[in-house]
Amino acid sequence: MKTLVSGVQASGKLHIGNYFGAMRQFTEFQDTHKSFVFIANYHALTTIHDKDTLKKNTIDAAIDHLAVGINPEKVIFFKQTEIPELHELTWIFNCLITVPFLSRANSYKDKIAKGIEASVGLFDYPVLMASDILLPGADIVPVGQDQKQHVEYARDIAEKFNNIFGETFTLPEAYIPKTVAIVPGTDGQKMSKSYGNTIPLFGTDEEVQKAIMGIVTDSKSPEEKKNPEEDTIFSLHKLLTPESKLIEIKKGYEDGGLSYAESKKLLLESFHLMFDDMRKRRNELARNPTSVEEILADGGKKAREHAQERMAIIRERVGL
Ligand code: ADP
Ligand code: TRP
Repeated sequence: MKTLVSGVQASGKLHIGNYFGAMRQFTEFQDTHKSFVFIANYHALTTIHDKDTLKKNTIDAAIDHLAVGINPEKVIFFKQTEIPELHELTWIFNCLITVPFLSRANSYKDKIAKGIEASVGLFDYPVLMASDILLPGADIVPVGQDQKQHVEYARDIAEKFNNIFGETFTLPEAYIPKTVAIVPGTDGQKMSKSYGNTIPLFGTDEEVQKAIMGIVTDSKSPEEKKNPEEDTIFSLHKLLTPESKLIEIKKGYEDGGLSYAESKKLLLESFHLMFDDMRKRRNELARNPTSVEEILADGGKKAREHAQERMAIIRERVGL
């Protein structure tokens, strides 16, 4: 069985970009891969310096992922902070790689370009992420396009370590499903919480409706013919709407007669059809956070045992 590893940032409300870009893969792979999925609360510390917010975001992210269908019987699901060995491995990696190598990270360069003073933690973010990926021995890492470079960092670091100390780490590969590489937001740009253009997966019915009805379009009248490939609503239909209905909608665009408002209403229906069970499950889990903590503790125990075994081998290789 191949190993899957992925982390989720505990940094706020999830949107359908997160779902199609990352979360869905976890549930797709849980039967075929040994899966480690964790809430990256150490990484969150690079941006969140408020105790209550960090705690709340961590548990919320766990609830969200259980609601979308992560099965803790199949997936080792835990908080990153259960694995202090990650920092030991990060230190070892830090001593192998160079400052210029890390300075090429897009996430770091973007922050610097915006005039943000980077913390050492932010600079080292890709190395901690490499430890997340390499310690459990990932073959594949499902992530969105923006995280691809980080997985490449992990690969480079693994190669470097293997060259120096002998074959120890599997070379991981990012898994990015092509069709949904980038989910557009309501303004047509990449959906991202930092752009305020999201369709929230677990927002209230009103919030979801407001987001979908607010999708920006051109000003073609209902009768006019429309190119579905140029429309954000249609791009989202491709993700949300069942195939049979999609063909009909496409025809409505190409022949004219389907208004954008109507297309949005159909999209809203598709949203509820696809996500209402998850939304219900989320409400149930939120009412019982203790059960979620128990799941995380149990996953943490398993992940830690595995990490300790691996770390013993790594220490031995390095001579520590
Ligand atoms: P955001 O851009 O909203 O801050 P994050 O950076 O927290 O989202 O991303 C969490 C996960 O979801 C990552 O794997 C990321 O690549 C993926 N993701 C985020 N936005 C999108 C999107 N619009 N399309 C596809 N995947 C996305
Ligand atoms: N950096 C990832 C993000 O922002 C989260 C993450 C941390 C991660 N460690 C990871 C993803 C390891 C995959 C594998 O989404």
